[in-house]
Amino acid sequence: MTDIKIEMKNIGKVFETDDVETHALRGVDIVIRAGEYISISGPSGCGKSTLLSLLGLLDMPSSGSYAIEGLDVSSLSLDEAARIRNEKIGFVFQSFNLIDELSVFDNVALPLQYKKELPTDEFIKARVETCLKMVEMSHRADHKPNQLSGGQQQRIAIARALVADPAILLVDEPTGNLDSKSGDTVMAVLAELNKNGTTICMVTHDARYANMANIQLKLLDGQIVKDEPLKVAV
Ligand SMILES: Nc1ncnc2c1ncn2[C@@H]1O[C@H](COP(=O)(O)OP(=O)(O)OP(=O)(O)O)[C@@H](O)[C@H]1O
Ligand SMILES: [Mg+2]
Repeated sequence: MTDIKIEMKNIGKVFETDDVETHALRGVDIVIRAGEYISISGPSGCGKSTLLSLLGLLDMPSSGSYAIEGLDVSSLSLDEAARIRNEKIGFVFQSFNLIDELSVFDNVALPLQYKKELPTDEFIKARVETCLKMVEMSHRADHKPNQLSGGQQQRIAIARALVADPAILLVDEPTGNLDSKSGDTVMAVLAELNKNGTTICMVTHDARYANMANIQLKLLDGQIVKDEPLKVAV
């Protein structure tokens, strides 16, 4: 029972601007269990980013219920949302959002500085090294982000997202700013992380990458139209 990481029920999101109401999401139900790899795809404007920002507590739904690891997060204040987001969510964005003034090591360590109880230096060192190893970037710990290729920067961003041991990794178009070879490397890192137990939910336009997930959600006009487990390859 406790292996459910994410449970959204009948989620709706309405944006009201001037006199126009946009129903960005309608009646969305999503369950994500520990160790699953979910992809969300669909045409421009179908609600993918809106869904990801609700999943990541960057915004609140207009209706419906949402729980992370059994904790009701349907209607949080901004402060509560920020605290739970820091504790439970790892984000990877299309733009890597690394801090150029900091070393790779310090970029990855950053989320640990916001923990309620600041971990010891030994813990931080060991944890950052573990995460850099997971993305095969240990040899670049002392570099600055702008000394790295795009694909390498994205791998550092993934290590940073993992460092605080989140319930789920939310990934938004991770290859959008990368050439296809670097994109493939980043996707291989995500597949390997998932193989080792990381729960991932990824938004992508790229059908080839969506197929790497074991559950593929298709969104159309704010509704899920398809939800299928991966067929076993023959
Ligand atoms: N802050 C906002 N205010 C008003 N309408 C919004 C807002 N954010 C999104 N929308 C509308 O909600 C709908 C879904 O938008 P969303 O950004 O989630 O689409 P998307 O699937 O991510 O598209 P894309 O593939 O182009 O990134 C669109 O009609 C959009 O115009
Ligand atoms: Mg979008």
